[in-house]
Amino acid sequence: MKLTHDSIERKPWLLIVLILLVVSIGGLVEIVPLFFQRSTTEPVAGLAPYSPLRLAGRDVYVREGCYNCHSQMIRPFRAETERYGHYSVAGEFVFDRPHQWGSKRTGPDLARVGGRYSDEWHREHLDNPRAVVPESNMPAYPWLAKTALDPQSIVPKMQALKRLGDPYTDEQIAAAPKELAGKTEQDALVAYLQGMGVQIKARR
Ligand code: HEC
Repeated sequence: MKLTHDSIERKPWLLIVLILLVVSIGGLVEIVPLFFQRSTTEPVAGLAPYSPLRLAGRDVYVREGCYNCHSQMIRPFRAETERYGHYSVAGEFVFDRPHQWGSKRTGPDLARVGGRYSDEWHREHLDNPRAVVPESNMPAYPWLAKTALDPQSIVPKMQALKRLGDPYTDEQIAAAPKELAGKTEQDALVAYLQGMGVQIKARR
């Protein structure tokens, strides 16, 4: 039997198998080298694992579903870099488990929002977005400022991340609950936002 293009296209099951084969090889060739490339596995200069407060804030971000409206991924296009700053690079996300890249942008990308506004602005904005951006349709999150963090809950989270390879020391993990004592969920979320994308500064 001669396997011409025509005869393959007439045999759907054979066609499916061959397509899967080709796609898998293509996938392996494109994806596997990334596991070993320094530029994708090494943190960018100045990037450290999340501090306990920022880690707690990141969990609030995930819990509240901020990713449903905000991406954290600046694409390498002029329109994006003019607006948000330097495009995102893989080394910025090595401590993100799971990453919050997303693709839904009801609101702006947040990958470089760190340092763009004051802490006070973020607090007002989270309590009531309309107070600082009148036309905003972002929901208000007023309970975050009234909800205390649970300091002990950070310990198992940091231990889990350590097991996955984040370079936390046992001393850092033991000291973490103290850093969260007396802090609210809003404190943590603002700290998380203020540290976002600050290792790569250049705007445009
Ligand atoms: C329903 C969609 C929606 C959700 C959910 C949402 N946002 Fe927003 N966000 C927006 C919109 C729209 C804007 C632009 C108007 C404004 O600044 O309020 C915005 C703006 C922002 C800004 C200012 C960004 C900038 O560069 O000006 C920050 C910071 C922010 N949001 C954080 C958050 C956080 C943190 C959460 C989760 C607690 C969240 N957002 C949830 C829609 C949303």
